[in-house]
Amino acid sequence: MMNITIIGSGYVGLTTGACFAEIGHHVICVDNDEAKIAKLLSGSIPIYEPGLEEMVTNNVSSGRLKFTTDTGEGVDFADVVFIAVPTPPQPDGSVDLRFIEKVAREIAAVLKDYKVIVDKSTVPVKTGEKVAETIRRYATPGIEFDVVSNPEFLREGCAVEDLMKPDRIVVGTNSDRALALMHKIYEPFVAPVLATDINSAELIKHAANSFLALKISYINAVAAVCDASGADVEKVAEGIGTDKRIGRAFLNAGLGYGGSCFPKDIAAFIAISEDLGIPFDLLKEVQDINARQLKNFIKKIQDALWVLQEKKIAVWGLSFKPDTDDVRCSVAIDLVDTLVKEGAHVTAYDPKAMEKVQELDVSGKITLAPSPLEAVDGAEALVIATEWPEFAAVDFEEVRKRMITPLIFDGRNLLDPERMTTLGFQYTGIGRGLHSSAPAAAAVETAAPRSKTPA
Ligand code: UGA
Repeated sequence: MMNITIIGSGYVGLTTGACFAEIGHHVICVDNDEAKIAKLLSGSIPIYEPGLEEMVTNNVSSGRLKFTTDTGEGVDFADVVFIAVPTPPQPDGSVDLRFIEKVAREIAAVLKDYKVIVDKSTVPVKTGEKVAETIRRYATPGIEFDVVSNPEFLREGCAVEDLMKPDRIVVGTNSDRALALMHKIYEPFVAPVLATDINSAELIKHAANSFLALKISYINAVAAVCDASGADVEKVAEGIGTDKRIGRAFLNAGLGYGGSCFPKDIAAFIAISEDLGIPFDLLKEVQDINARQLKNFIKKIQDALWVLQEKKIAVWGLSFKPDTDDVRCSVAIDLVDTLVKEGAHVTAYDPKAMEKVQELDVSGKITLAPSPLEAVDGAEALVIATEWPEFAAVDFEEVRKRMITPLIFDGRNLLDPERMTTLGFQYTGIGRGLHSSAPAAAAVETAAPRSKTPA
């Protein structure tokens, strides 16, 4: 088994470190945030991620997982040093690489013998070359090292599972010595290792995320056509997704993609391509469709309620997707923000994100309810912004009784439209066409004429 150090103990770094320890490696996770390391040393996990807390606790007690703020200690200890620090966006969409550059300098300053330096953060193509250049410049002359690109494909909410059972492991390097060590690290994983050059590995990550975002925007564009024509996007997604060449995954129409990866990575890939002289207009359209999703959805709510001022609206779901407490770039938060700006009184509930929401400005302008049912008390509309599975299991007869007017706006197509209309709701989803115009709808003369639904 190997000694591994991970620099950066965020979502990717911490989960990767815990999983490497779980399979038997000895791991040190480094972070310059002293409060975070103190928290981790005291056994508390700064993020909610299914299975992570248990894994961290077990591996800390077995002595295979340690935490420190000292980069020197981490680098000395390791055969392989992973970099997993943030690569945030700049205002023009390009990637801010200052943390990567800083860590490269820090590693160089303490490098005493051969190490493999692996970049796990999402970075623009050709960053590996810069990292190698930087280390060479700042390290003691003559010390050997290799740089590897090993992008991470884990999703928040199922990070542990994605890491333990990856579809593939991409290793970009021009060194056989480094490749052999990477094979050793990943030996216990049952997944193909795709060995490439560094540039290709870096590009794979941006190309993969952009393709997934493209799939989402594609189905959302199809959903708009469904709304206008009376077709059901859920059936269409099933019909096209069962073609093995297309696949059903990431064809869920909804409020669009959010989170800390897709919006940033698509903008970055556009900027990277432009920088290389290759405009990527297709991805600009992906962004535009995504931005239209929330606008069109808000319009549906306005068409139904006419004036939002003073209306009590319940919102279920605040995290950017289920099974996470992450509210960064959450479309649900943008939605709540828009409703509040329109003068609506929003009462919101989320199973895991309530604490994180309290750190946002918008929390002072809404009421947080302790349960989904309490959120709908006296509401004139219920909006589902995140598809937590438990929302589908709520007693909707009780929801119906508690609401003043039975309007449901399902921004994630979580509920069965027919069941909801049978229960007396007027149901509006995304691209679910005729299902929305159920008998109950007649009582509240509202839905926008389908032909006018903006695409
Ligand atoms: C995404 C990728 O899926 C990971 O492979 C990648 O490692 C990660 O970014 C990253 O670059 O770090 P993540 O952002 O955690 O993972 O979450 P996803 O499950 O991909 O969802 C992203 C957004 O797309 C969410 O807002 C989700 O609601 C939305 N989405 C997803 C849809 O609207 N429809 C879908 O069919 C799927």
